[in-house]
Amino acid sequence: MSGSMDAGDGAAEDSVPQQPRQPPEAVATGTSRRGLLRGALLGGVGGLVVGGAGGAVAGRTLISEDSTDAVNLGTKYPFYGQRYQVGIATEPQRHCLFATFRLAPGATTRDLQVLLARWSAAIAVLQDGRSVGSVEPTSPLQPPRDTGEAHDLSPASLTVTLGLGPSVFGERFGLARFKPALFSDLPPLNGDFLDPKFTGGDLSLQACADDPQVSYHAFRNLARIGRGVVVPYWTVLGFGRASAGEGQATPRMLLGFKDGTRNIKTDDQMAQFVWIDKSDQPWLDGGSYQVVRKIRMLLETWDADRIGDQQEIFGRDKAEGAPLTGTKEFDHPDFAARDAEGELIINPLAHIALSAPENNGGVMIKRRSYNYTDGLAADGQLDAGLLFISYQNDPQHFIRLQNRLGANDLLNEYIRHIGSGIFVVPPAPEEGHYIGEALFA
Ligand code: HEM
Repeated sequence: MSGSMDAGDGAAEDSVPQQPRQPPEAVATGTSRRGLLRGALLGGVGGLVVGGAGGAVAGRTLISEDSTDAVNLGTKYPFYGQRYQVGIATEPQRHCLFATFRLAPGATTRDLQVLLARWSAAIAVLQDGRSVGSVEPTSPLQPPRDTGEAHDLSPASLTVTLGLGPSVFGERFGLARFKPALFSDLPPLNGDFLDPKFTGGDLSLQACADDPQVSYHAFRNLARIGRGVVVPYWTVLGFGRASAGEGQATPRMLLGFKDGTRNIKTDDQMAQFVWIDKSDQPWLDGGSYQVVRKIRMLLETWDADRIGDQQEIFGRDKAEGAPLTGTKEFDHPDFAARDAEGELIINPLAHIALSAPENNGGVMIKRRSYNYTDGLAADGQLDAGLLFISYQNDPQHFIRLQNRLGANDLLNEYIRHIGSGIFVVPPAPEEGHYIGEALFA
């Protein structure tokens, strides 16, 4: 089967999206937060207060222009011919909808193949900022093909990253011969408090965008296209990225510390630690293993902790994010440095001491996490934490780190790993093809 299948329920109209969400020029100009702020500055009174005679918003005070963290909603990422799927090396967007799916009990190998082809076609269209079919069909009797909530929105840097779980390579679909030797379900790990409601899954979609409505729209329409073949299993709505790409300021996760300072950022590191290359399954070259952990934070307990203890737990200071042996965020931590009393300055059980490559045989993983909240727990406590997502070319790299952290990390008092999944992300397809096509050759 070729990759030219349509994105929708099978109707021809879906292969060519009917209603572009944006006029082409909007993609070029976009709407950047920085641009908005600059406009506000020009229109404001004395450069500080926006509003007054011509101002649209009265009484809003602009402290400073945010030049390090601009969002351009007009940005879009191509889908085809990229070698690597987007959403891994891509600079993290602000929002993420992570979803897993289960294949329906009656789904066949052919159903899986058609689903991957339809999803690929739809993702290409969604990342281009368009609808996956008519929002307003001409016949009043026909349901809309696209759900419509992103109809007037910009592409917002949407990336949809598709992963396949270990179960896809079981006997059921006759695909066992395509399973890489390194790939299987995660074993029980130190620190597991896993809830079956948030664990496992046959397929994964990571839909990230700078507009949460755009990422939700992508998930919703892909789920709709898959209806009958897959059933959504567990989802996490992530906000406020908790990792930085090259050139992005390091953001903070919900415990208030900067997260992503010593993350993988260069192409060389990506080649060494993230992209699968020359594995026992050549069809996976250019892919990566995706590990997802839903990690609840015990925020009320954390918020009562002393700042000195909080900083010891991470081995970094809170405001600057510097290692306790330095003064600036990007100073290299010195895990052997001792204070005047001869004590190690960075506690060997601190989070960074246990996870740093220096102390793990040089191994690194690419972290691409988000904050999440599920509102309030039944006991009234804040139900929130980290949607931890990492990419690596060997699942053992994550397993080794987590077993070490789960057994010893000072942070464990304040976190619970409640959800978990592992998926392999195949390389991106060429135009006219689809993700995972090699499986059905
Ligand atoms: C809620 C859970 C977690 C929180 C709040 C958290 C937070 C942090 C923070 C604040 C840093 C220091 C800044 C940085 O270099 O990025 C860090 C570093 C790091 N974390 Fe985590 N983390 C969590 C879970 C994990 C897990 C599950 C793993 C892997 C199994 C992990 C692996 C790492 C690594 C490899 C580093 C870099 C250490 C270095 O090279 O200095 N983290 N994390």
